[in-house]
Amino acid sequence: MVECFRADLMEVDFVERNGDTWTEKYRPKDLASISHQEEVVAMLQNALKGKDLPHLLFYGPPGTGKTSAALAFCHELFPSKAVFKDRVLEMNASDDRGIAAVREKITFFSRRAVSTAAKNMPSFKIIILDEVDAMTKVAQSAMRRIIEDCSGTTRFILICNYVSRLFAPIVSRCAKFRFKPLPKEAQAERLHTICENENTKVSVDELHALVERSEGDLRRAVGSLQAMAPILQHANADERAEYFLPSYNPQLVETIVRSIKKSKTSEIIDLSKRVSKECSGVNFFKVLFDQLLDEDVINNKNIGQIGKLVSLCEKRILDGCDLQRNLLDFMLNLRTTL
Ligand SMILES: Nc1ncnc2c1ncn2[C@@H]1O[C@H](COP(=O)(O)OP(=O)(O)OP(=O)(O)O)[C@@H](O)[C@H]1O
Ligand SMILES: [Mg+2]
Repeated sequence: MVECFRADLMEVDFVERNGDTWTEKYRPKDLASISHQEEVVAMLQNALKGKDLPHLLFYGPPGTGKTSAALAFCHELFPSKAVFKDRVLEMNASDDRGIAAVREKITFFSRRAVSTAAKNMPSFKIIILDEVDAMTKVAQSAMRRIIEDCSGTTRFILICNYVSRLFAPIVSRCAKFRFKPLPKEAQAERLHTICENENTKVSVDELHALVERSEGDLRRAVGSLQAMAPILQHANADERAEYFLPSYNPQLVETIVRSIKKSKTSEIIDLSKRVSKECSGVNFFKVLFDQLLDEDVINNKNIGQIGKLVSLCEKRILDGCDLQRNLLDFMLNLRTTL
């Protein structure tokens, strides 16, 4: 017998989306508007035709369209607002209340009977679970069982930045899709369109500076643009130049350059933790590499070896490996090279 819960017996929290933010306002509404993620978009468009779906895992750097793709897919699959609400649950896996609360919400949602009135629609429900990599190992192991228990009625779209932080049995239950960093030109174009719509005057150079500053995270760039827009209207040229400075902390780069040779391992571990909180990706490696060159830390003798180290770490990060571990690996290797 299908267990049927009354919706009012338990409140299901949907992730609140604030439509006033430009991130929400300019979030792609359909799959065709998701740019530069051809592989996952083609797979999702096929799934729309076939109406069946494996569990999915979207991973990749911040602000590259993971949440947007998951939402756009669900909206195309369940175009009616009422059906969407009935069939799609979006939540953060790192819910403060812990795995018990997540389990309760998911179990309730996946067992709830769905309206059968919707014709030509798949019978399953979808749970979009964001930030899965923020869950502890114990919670992830519990999550694996939850996924198994709910698979009869529910498909999961798991989302994370770093796939290397996930418990292997969760990864193996999903079809994996890596979201690539968006080309800088495409990001600048998107920002330009937003500026035009919002009547905000920002030069091409400023937009490119903003893209650099946001380290490939388009959401961060759109958010910064919205925050800066009212100030920019009255800013003079010097002030504008300051607003578009790089977001990484130049002092932090200097600290690394100065201290890497003489620091103890424990200090390097601390430094890698600090840096990983203040930067979001590979751009930091590029800046660091340039500065190491300027400071003659990198010279003709070691440039090949250090260049290899940088590109290896960049590749690993783009493949979804943990940023802090790569920073640590880079710094420790650099220390032995110098
Ligand atoms: N591939 C893309 N195509 C079009 N717009 C995009 C794309 N990626 C990001 N954006 C823009 O950036 C904003 C944020 O995208 P989204 O929330 O989907 O990123 P995300 O990958 O889920 O990031 P995070 O890992 O930080 O959660 C969107 O509102 C949209 O305007
Ligand atoms: Mg997201």
